[in-house]
Amino acid sequence: MKVAMIGTGYVGLVTGACFADLGHKVVCVDKDAEKIERLKKGGIPIYEPGLEDMVQRNVEAGRLSFTTSMAEAVPGRDAIFIAVGTPTRENGGGADLSAVYAVARELAMHINGYTVIVDKSTVPVGTGDEVEAIIRQANPEAEFDVASNPEFLREGSAIEDFMRPDRVVIGTDSERARAVMQALYRPLTMHETPMIYTNRPTAELTKYAANAFLATKVTFINEIADICERVGADVQDVSRGIGLDSRIGLKFLQAGAGFGGSCFPKDTLALTETARKVGRPTQIVESVMAANNERKRRMAEKIIEACGGSLEGKTLAVLGVTFKPNTDDMRDAPSLDIVPLLQKAGGRIRAYDPEGMQEARKYLDGVEWGEDAYSIMPDADALLILTEWNEFRVLDFERVKKLLKTPLVIDLRNIYALPEMTKAGFVYHSVGRKPVL
Ligand SMILES: NC(=O)c1ccc[n+]([C@@H]2O[C@H](COP(=O)([O-])OP(=O)(O)OC[C@H]3O[C@@H](n4cnc5c(N)ncnc54)[C@H](O)[C@@H]3O)[C@@H](O)[C@H]2O)c1
Repeated sequence: MKVAMIGTGYVGLVTGACFADLGHKVVCVDKDAEKIERLKKGGIPIYEPGLEDMVQRNVEAGRLSFTTSMAEAVPGRDAIFIAVGTPTRENGGGADLSAVYAVARELAMHINGYTVIVDKSTVPVGTGDEVEAIIRQANPEAEFDVASNPEFLREGSAIEDFMRPDRVVIGTDSERARAVMQALYRPLTMHETPMIYTNRPTAELTKYAANAFLATKVTFINEIADICERVGADVQDVSRGIGLDSRIGLKFLQAGAGFGGSCFPKDTLALTETARKVGRPTQIVESVMAANNERKRRMAEKIIEACGGSLEGKTLAVLGVTFKPNTDDMRDAPSLDIVPLLQKAGGRIRAYDPEGMQEARKYLDGVEWGEDAYSIMPDADALLILTEWNEFRVLDFERVKKLLKTPLVIDLRNIYALPEMTKAGFVYHSVGRKPVL
């Protein structure tokens, strides 16, 4: 099938490349001419494991191409995906849908045969109706349907998530659109991927409900971790103890520094806006957001306390700044709150992240960036782990101890076992577990 993907970011580029890999002919569009130029030359604008190879393979096979031109991309497509950003509005409130609506206006006049406009961006209920109205008004002759097909991939494992999803959700009342979507996803249904066909508002809401639920799970275990610290319990055992119950499940039960990233913060906020708008405010999700914001401040306090109550004249070596490993995405990363609070408390920050430093430089001032994990450690008063990149799990402890001024490790991701830190001779503070002193 012929597909256009409008918006070539984390979601658009990955889904575009994956659809091409499934055998469809895909053109990815972006208004960022520099990004498109780079992609045309074989460069990949984001870090996502496996993506570079997949893009290259499909470009070479003639199934994947890039353009900035709607006039080139839109005509003759079976499906046109909208995968542009829907960040939080700058002046507060819910999702900023200006990019989605701009795309609807821009593509409308180029539709020249039946096509399905598929909203893949995360958008509040009713956005599909508005997209339909915009296109209808701009091009009354256009033959099209609008479907919702929210994306559930996770950065860092995006390709695997797209190729082997837990489910695919498609919202449309049109039989014709449904047939197109079925044909697009046929290769996945051969792996018995559950397909959920529903109406548009249901599909739109499902995405927000999923993210709000996961954010709630993370926040819940973070609160349990705080209790663990007070009563001498171990949150990792509590997680297993509850997570092995199949009604609960183990995933998203790792206590840490608070959730961040490009989706949970903005999607929980957007859901609460929708809920308020329809007169059914969600107390649970609002509490989750408040607890998560508070958590990041509390994590800074925890670090300061572990450093003896003051950071004046102290240097912290920070490992990891991205909101999770295997991505260079810095959007709403907890480090963006925690690092400035540490600096405000007088701390000097040296940091290293395997992929995120280029992005992080734009948002974090006054940080000295290292070339590798060890380069930031000499004479530091403490080592702080903010993101659980795999390479931090296998540090040479002897070398770390020699480099640090004091053998103090504060680990907000619980990547080390308590006995190994005891044996290595560190003072070790983690989350929801007894400190090693
Ligand atoms: N990043 C994730 O992990 C993830 C996962 C699931 C869903 N989502 C949702 O998918 C959507 C896209 O997210 P993302 O992370 O890929 O965003 P992104 O910011 O990485 O990419 C968006 C792209 O759209 C382009 N764009 C904006 N306006 C345009 C226009 N008028 N014409 C053409 N291109 C335009 C931008 O230049 C940018 O390259 C959001 O709604 C997000 O909530 C994201």
